[in-house]
Amino acid sequence: MPQTVQGVIARAKGAPVELVDILVPDPGPGEAVVKVEACGVCHTDLHYREGGINEEFPFLLGHEAAGTVEAVGEGVTEVAPGDFVILNWRAVCGQCRACLKGKPWYCFSTHNATQRMTLSDGTELSPALGIGAFAEKTLVAAGQCTKVDADAEAAAVGLLGCGVMAGFGAAVNTGGVQRGDSIAVIGCGGVGSAAIAGAHTVGATTIIAVDVDDRKLERAKRFGATHTVNSKDTDPVAAIRELTGGHGADVVVEAVGRPETYEQAFYARDLAGTVVLVGVPTPDLQVTLPLIEIFGRGGSLKSSWYGDCLPSRDFPMLVDLYRQGRFDLDAFVTEKIGIGDVEAAFETMRGGDVLRSVVVL
Ligand SMILES: NC(=O)c1ccc[n+]([C@@H]2O[C@H](COP(=O)([O-])OP(=O)(O)OC[C@H]3O[C@@H](n4cnc5c(N)ncnc54)[C@H](O)[C@@H]3O)[C@@H](O)[C@H]2O)c1
Ligand SMILES: [Zn+2]
Ligand SMILES: [Zn+2]
Repeated sequence: MPQTVQGVIARAKGAPVELVDILVPDPGPGEAVVKVEACGVCHTDLHYREGGINEEFPFLLGHEAAGTVEAVGEGVTEVAPGDFVILNWRAVCGQCRACLKGKPWYCFSTHNATQRMTLSDGTELSPALGIGAFAEKTLVAAGQCTKVDADAEAAAVGLLGCGVMAGFGAAVNTGGVQRGDSIAVIGCGGVGSAAIAGAHTVGATTIIAVDVDDRKLERAKRFGATHTVNSKDTDPVAAIRELTGGHGADVVVEAVGRPETYEQAFYARDLAGTVVLVGVPTPDLQVTLPLIEIFGRGGSLKSSWYGDCLPSRDFPMLVDLYRQGRFDLDAFVTEKIGIGDVEAAFETMRGGDVLRSVVVL
């Protein structure tokens, strides 16, 4: 019997989100129903609502969550009812060409639930990133559930399910930041701050935070930024060069998703350095760069999906670092809100002074 629970949907492009009844089917083969305990509000949810990802409305929003497995379908062995899990949007298939090459963090055929959750009139919902966790319960592929220590705080560790993992991994996995490196991070929201924390954790010695909001820059210091640049009044490229002996940073992470910040990242890296685009652009955006500069500077221009993470490897490791006090996940939780407050949280996100609003159920 499908269960009726409350969930937050985006019905049409740009329309305010709504809290409505949704139907969650019993888990079929390979699926799990998860009782959501906490789910962070990520900028990508707002991109969905604004039609910036695709047009498959209505969306069931929410995708950085932790909860408890309530029921599993036939053939599920990786998790069992009662397990405390972080939901991931990279349930690797093990069979695609990336997986077969031994690079499962690039998996091109990740698993989601086969059945669809619906509105009470039967309209099928598109769960954000195949998760849909601004809901009391959600249906996912069992592989989307990564089991972690049950006594970790759900509001904090749930953030590993998207933004924090994406930022940490953009710096450490995709950017390959190491001990002694210099890194600049442009855009210090939840994702950028996690990139800073990641660089700090692995021992980068120059960590430059760039944002247009002084409050974000103040917080960035808490995550390990050694220098801050407000790019509203200072040229960030010149400032980053000056702070790195005139050369530019070894790695520059772009965590905004805009052409102007991408160009800053491009010019602020050292020769043979790495640019990592983790911010998600909307489909209309273009960038134009001199080809000779792309060639002449060498190095690499990369993008980072989900921080090139492998949930089964990275979530438990980051939960360990958190529990040991070496990675301050709690500092990402700016406010805890109710499931009816997601629209207000989008406004707060636009207003600036928040890393993550987390819906607690
Ligand atoms: N690649 C991935 O897997 C992945 C995962 C999660 C989120 N994202 C994307 O990462 C981006 C950041 O997400 P978030 O949740 O941290 O968003 P956020 O809104 O919390 O943070 C964005 C930050 O960028 C700053 N900013 C805006 N314009 C700027 C500019 N011109 N120069 C410098 N800073 C500027 C804002 O002040 C803010 O601090 C979004 O595009 C989001 O969709 C990507
Ligand atoms: Zn695969
Ligand atoms: Zn996200």
